[in-house]
Order: sequence, then structure tokens, then C-alpha cells
Amino acid sequence: MDDLSYSSSTKACSVLIMLLSLTWLIGSGNLMGNQQWGNSLTESSEKNGERIVARHPVLENLSSESGIVEVELTASKERLSLVPGFETDVYAYNGRIPGPMLEASEGDSVIVHFKNDLPEETTVHWHGMHLPFVMDGSPFHPVGPGETFTYSFRIHPGTAGTYWYHPHPHHRTAWQVGKGLYGGIIIRDPEDPLPDTLTEYLLILSDNRFDKKGEVEFAEPGSRQERIDDMNGREGDVLFVNDEIMPELSIRSGEVQRWRIVNASGARIYRLGLEGHTFTHIGSDGGLFENPEEVDEIVLANGERAELLVHGTGDPGREVILQALPYDRYMPMWRPSDWNETLDLLTLQYTGDPPADSNFELPETLRKIPEINIEDATETRIMRMTNGKINSKTMDMNRVDETAELGATEIWDIRNLVGMDHPFHLHGFQFQVIDRNGNPVSQRKWKDTVNLPGFESARFIVRYDNYPGKWMFHCHILDHEDQGMMGVLEVK
Ligand code: C2O
Ligand code: CU
Ligand code: CU
Repeated sequence: MDDLSYSSSTKACSVLIMLLSLTWLIGSGNLMGNQQWGNSLTESSEKNGERIVARHPVLENLSSESGIVEVELTASKERLSLVPGFETDVYAYNGRIPGPMLEASEGDSVIVHFKNDLPEETTVHWHGMHLPFVMDGSPFHPVGPGETFTYSFRIHPGTAGTYWYHPHPHHRTAWQVGKGLYGGIIIRDPEDPLPDTLTEYLLILSDNRFDKKGEVEFAEPGSRQERIDDMNGREGDVLFVNDEIMPELSIRSGEVQRWRIVNASGARIYRLGLEGHTFTHIGSDGGLFENPEEVDEIVLANGERAELLVHGTGDPGREVILQALPYDRYMPMWRPSDWNETLDLLTLQYTGDPPADSNFELPETLRKIPEINIEDATETRIMRMTNGKINSKTMDMNRVDETAELGATEIWDIRNLVGMDHPFHLHGFQFQVIDRNGNPVSQRKWKDTVNLPGFESARFIVRYDNYPGKWMFHCHILDHEDQGMMGVLEVK
């Protein structure tokens, strides 16, 4: 592998970017350049006896009963420092961005006492989780300013994995997530096939844009920027991993680590690569795969999650960068001029310790994923995605777009008819992708979001188990969702 040339060209490149962004800083109204804040922010806060897992503070379990996870979650306006030297008006869960992590195990009952201290309606949506309709935090169940709501749901067996929570109010999701409302969820399997001695990181990726006062910048109504944000989705030039810009993780030579990655960005799609390293891709939205896959890089669209094993194959003392490699998700006429820049996300720093001899052996099969049988499918639903619309319609809360029977197995045939990526997400039920552009996929995986690059198609199979209700399906570029690229599936 020629990782040498890779990293040196990256270095030359980042010097150039720094110079460019300095000039640009002076010359423009925007505050932030891009990556020049390296290593600047705090270490993850290990304070007040707070439990830190995978580098995240965890929502404190108020229940002492086993099998119950009872937590308090409040959304409020805060002033926090996101970029060094500035304070910013934000929305935050329990005063933090990202919100504290929710941690539970299969079989647990989760109770979330939610309080909306925001000056506007919101909801908490538990992205990817299989739960009752009224608990889904969809636009159908807004929580008004000053109001409370108790979300309670059971964690189904077989659903261990990485999920996330975010608001989902009608037309306001991109704005509220942009202001800081998102957090991670880890559901654990008591019989996890991987040893719990592996160092684990939860990495929530997001990007944001700030004005020269350090406030979160949204496009002026009627501006050209607004047209660009409507079309591409709002991207920011400052990239965060959890609450940090270019944080540093450490690894020992020879060590194996387990990384869980969430794309919480409103619009940015990440093509992730770690200089000179491969990943063992072990899981996605709905948890572990059956078989691990060795990959050089991974594309993570909005709302998607990945579980990876990172092998410390580097020498002691070495430093490598996790990068967002160029990914062209745009319509040619709206493609930003800097789309093909490589951006740095974090530094993986090898300790000086001599290589650990890892006696870690990756199981050949991580678990069995039950097959949803194609012969059982009673319907095929075709979804034609064009910019801003699904099947030529925009979202109407008073309309049901698709009706299905509880317990039915169906195929969804998602077709992207335009030249940019649209990640398609279904609430309530994990599905299995069957094929992409007519080619069968390599193995069964539980997914709740599937990215459709321009002019591509995919089919998935899903069974509507347990929960009747009105379930949203939508593009997970949040600006597109807010514009109405969303519909309703009623299961009854
Ligand atoms: Cu993560 Cu309907 O969304
Ligand atoms: Cu969702
Ligand atoms: Cu879209």
C-alpha cells in the first residue's frame, strides 16, 4: 500500500488549504476556514463522576431495577463554545452537543422523561429503532414548548447496534439538528460476539457553518446560498467528531479497536479512509453483519451508521488521519467547487508502547440474520425519487401515501431518477436490501437507510412486525425532508 505518497500529498494539501482559508477568512464574511483548529478542543470531559463510555457521557439511569433504563432528557437553548474563542447560540440536549449517549441492552425497557424547554415545537425521534408509533417522535407527535412527554419502548432481541436520536418536527428538522440537537444510542447484546476488552469509540460526525460572530449560519431567505442549501442540503465547512474538531484518539501498535460511526450531518456524505489502514466492516444500521468485510474505505450517508474494527498495524509513535475523501453526491450544476478536497476528521495517534501482541481472533460469523423470504412478499412499492419529491408528491400530513397490513412482507423498489444522491430512510422497521441496480447484494444486513446515488436503484424487503401506525419514509438529507421529500406508510 503506498500510504506514504498518500499522507505526504495530504500534508502539502493541508498547508495549501490553510493558506487559502486564511486569505478567505480575511476576505469573506464567514468565520471559519476549515481544518486549522487541529487538536484544539478539550479532551472528553471526565467530570463529576459522570459515566463516560466510548468517549461519551451517558444518560444516567435513574432506575435501580434491572432491565429498566430510565433517563431524563431536556432540549433547551444554550450558549456553548463549539469553535475555539467563540460562544454560540445553540439548541442542546441536557446542555450538550451532541446530547449524552443513550445506552441500553436488548430486552430492556427504556423510559425517557423528555422536557421541551425550547421556544418552539420539537420531537425526539429514535432513528432506526423498532417501537410503537406514538413513541417514534415523528412529525405526528409534536411536543410543544414547555411541554413534557415520556417516551417508553422495549428493546427487541436481535436489535443490538448503533442508533441515534434527533428532532423531527414538520419543516424544522434541518434547522433544529443544525442548532445542535442530535445524540448517539448504543444498544448492547449481552452475548456480543466481540470481546468487551476492545477499546470502543462512538464517533458522531457532523458539520456546521458559522458567521463571523461565531453564530450558526443559515442562509438568508431569498439568497443564492439558500438555493444552494435547498438543492444540495446545507453543508458546513467545520467538521466535528462528537464535540471536537480534529480530536485525537490513541491506539497501541497491535491493538484492535471497535469504532461505531454515525453520520449526523444534515447533508454531507462521508467517504471515510484511514491512511495506510483498512477497516474490518462488521456492522451497519441494525447491528452486526453475519460476515465481516475487509474494506479500504466506507461511504456513510446521512442517518447511516457503521461499525468497524480498526487494526493497529502502524508502528509505535506513528500518527494517521481519518479523512473524509472526496465524494461527488451533487448535480453537476450545483456541485461546490471544493467538492474534491480531502478533509481531515481526526488523528489516530499510536502510543510509544511496543506492539501489543493481539490474541484477538475475529469470529468468522458474527451472528445469524434471519432471512425475510422473497416468496412471502405480497406487494412491491415503487418509490420514484426526484428532487424534492417522492412519486411526484410532497409531504402532506393529512394524506396516507401507502397502506399495508400489519405483519405483511413487502418489497420496496426505490428509484432515484435524478443526478444526485438521495439517502432513503424508512421509520419503524429495519429492512434488508436485496439488490442494487439489479445486482444482488453480497450478504444480508439490517438497514433503515439506503443511499441511492444519482440514477441508481435498490430494492429492499421488509416485514411490518408488531407496530401499526403511520410511518414516515423520506430522503435523509434534512433540507429535502423539510421541503417535503417524505411520505406516509400506514400499517394497520
Ligand atoms: Cu433520522 Cu425520519 O429520520
Ligand atoms: Cu428515522
Ligand atoms: Cu434528497
